[in-house]
Amino acid sequence: MSEADRRRPEHSIAIAGGGIIGMSIAWRLARGGWAVTVYERAALGHEASWAGAGMLSPGGEIDTASPLAPLAIESRRLYPAFVRELEETLGSPIDYQECGGLDLAYSPAELDALKDRAKRQSDLGIASKPVAAGQVSTFWPRVRTDKLAGARFYPGDAIVNPRDVMSALAAACRARAVSVVESCSVCRARISPNEVAVETAHGAQNHSALVIAAGAWSNSISVSGTDPLPPVEPAKGHLIGYQQPQQTCNTIVRHGHIYILQRANGLMIAGSSVERVGFDRDIQPEIIHSLAERAGFLFPHLRDTTPSEGWIGFRPASETLHMGMWGSPRLYLAYGHYRNGILLAPVTAERVSAAINANLGMR
Ligand code: GLY
Repeated sequence: MSEADRRRPEHSIAIAGGGIIGMSIAWRLARGGWAVTVYERAALGHEASWAGAGMLSPGGEIDTASPLAPLAIESRRLYPAFVRELEETLGSPIDYQECGGLDLAYSPAELDALKDRAKRQSDLGIASKPVAAGQVSTFWPRVRTDKLAGARFYPGDAIVNPRDVMSALAAACRARAVSVVESCSVCRARISPNEVAVETAHGAQNHSALVIAAGAWSNSISVSGTDPLPPVEPAKGHLIGYQQPQQTCNTIVRHGHIYILQRANGLMIAGSSVERVGFDRDIQPEIIHSLAERAGFLFPHLRDTTPSEGWIGFRPASETLHMGMWGSPRLYLAYGHYRNGILLAPVTAERVSAAINANLGMR
């Protein structure tokens, strides 16, 4: 397609939201020849994509059959190529570790619950294997083994640093001439049969289609000409970090609702809480304290260490995950990823761009 063709509105896609979901879709569409404009209300990747720990963990997050389960497994399968292609574009490495995840049980009842969960997961295609308490001290020497009843290892779980992915996506989108407009909210979208008029704080522009990928902010866009948008709300989470020697925590380590992982830069992250308090950005000392206590339980050497960082993020919580056309071939949704936005970025980009190509493919 010529440069002039690319600039025609019928070949241009607007994306509301410059987080990992919106930018992954932008990159994919731009590679397919679309002219893409990303409107980001603040700065690229500075909300949930910045806050996320970066677990790529069907083993930790999925244990019942649901529409999410096959998508999570598929996206985990897509991750190595997604990272490799971004690294090639960026020319520098992304912290991506195929490290696996260890779930710990500190009572026979907890161990039975792990076994039941593993059986359900195995039916979904998520593999795990038992690890005897004695083996934990050999391979995870820093983990608490006092009263440990047993554990399970999930070899397919991995971690990625979402901040590295965002930097790479920004570079990859730049290389594909994606137009990125920061500090620019999409306020309104008027859907008509042949185009969508996108009104932003900086003016109006017609596009061939609009993708709403604004995470917990997706409902702030007023859409006319099609069905109302499904609701989404912020589910705030606190996380803490400790700067630790590398290899302190070689895999994801989980117990109940807490998870711990370590980035290549040494930051050991413990998460997380869930609070339904709207867009309240306050960091609650009692929640930080409780996370630190739980981290110190699992890694006793952390008991007397104050976390070097504490932060929050807003997960986009919706009744279901939205990933495709919404009421008109001019409108697509990509939100409601809740705890799995980092994991689901590749599959979301693939599904949404496939829907756009199928409905509006360039002729
Ligand atoms: N993905 C884990 C969390 O949201 O805390």
